[in-house]
Amino acid sequence: MKGIILAGGAGSRLYPLTLVASKQLQPVYDKPMVYYPLTTLIEGGIRELCLISTPADLPRFKQLFGDGSRFGVSIEYREQPRPAGIAQAFLIADTFIGADNVTLILGDNIFYGDEDFHRSFVEFKSGATIFGYHVNDPERYGVVEFDADGRAISIEEKPKRPRSNYAVPGLYIYDNTIVNIAKNLLPSARGELEITDVNLAYLSRGRLRVNRLARGFAWLDAGTSSSLHDASAYVQTIETRQGIKIGCPEEAAFRNGFLSLARLESLIQNMPNCEYRDYLNEVVAEAKRV
Ligand code: TTP
Repeated sequence: MKGIILAGGAGSRLYPLTLVASKQLQPVYDKPMVYYPLTTLIEGGIRELCLISTPADLPRFKQLFGDGSRFGVSIEYREQPRPAGIAQAFLIADTFIGADNVTLILGDNIFYGDEDFHRSFVEFKSGATIFGYHVNDPERYGVVEFDADGRAISIEEKPKRPRSNYAVPGLYIYDNTIVNIAKNLLPSARGELEITDVNLAYLSRGRLRVNRLARGFAWLDAGTSSSLHDASAYVQTIETRQGIKIGCPEEAAFRNGFLSLARLESLIQNMPNCEYRDYLNEVVAEAKRV
């Protein structure tokens, strides 16, 4: 399974924050936003990654992540010249995907919750797996409707009259047919290659699975000033109460066996004195106790 982090876009709703640094580089409490989706992919067991962003912002992401070896993964970089739709990612990353299955995650989406969630990656075989999350304001998202047996029967992009409260979060797992599906997409009325059209293509073939995320699960997107603030407050609340970090890619890589204990210890040596370093030292100390 390959992984794509899509971190382009205009970020216009966060203006003037996004004048000099893109949305996905803004802090969500104690780390850059893009650390959270990176961690989700690592937790899902994905080691070969591609990050897509704008020509202006891509150098900053390279500066942040390098070749990915700090997290026990490899990261390639690709440019999206202008925001022509989420589904364009599969055309841009065509040669990166090759003959593999691929997961796409949006760079401003934060997922936090039960371990079962990661099974969707591990158990994925073919077709498409996406998620459904109960929200208060479904009209802002792709909305999925279920029949009485819990099977998805329709998906609509930003409908005026949503048929359910289930929004589709920015995390999509596809088999290799995605590349052909993306090549055959036509731009929508707003001029974008729509991810909802991809999901509809899988739905019409009877190959779409929609996993409903559990009630206690948190899916946050941080695209507006208030949702950015809410996401920071959420992360701070959980981290302070539980003494664990959300969105710590080094920890996820270590727990998944992507980084050895010795490698993690040497990475920590190179970090400045800070809370992040103290936390990772705790992770090491705990691992040595067991
Ligand atoms: P949006 O939040 O819909 O768009 P945006 O980031 O451009 O923000 P704004 O509406 O405030 O201008 O995009 C969702 C995510 O997908 C976000 O992380 C950016 C990313 N994206 C791309 O990278 N390329 C694209 O072509 C599109 C449409 C989105």
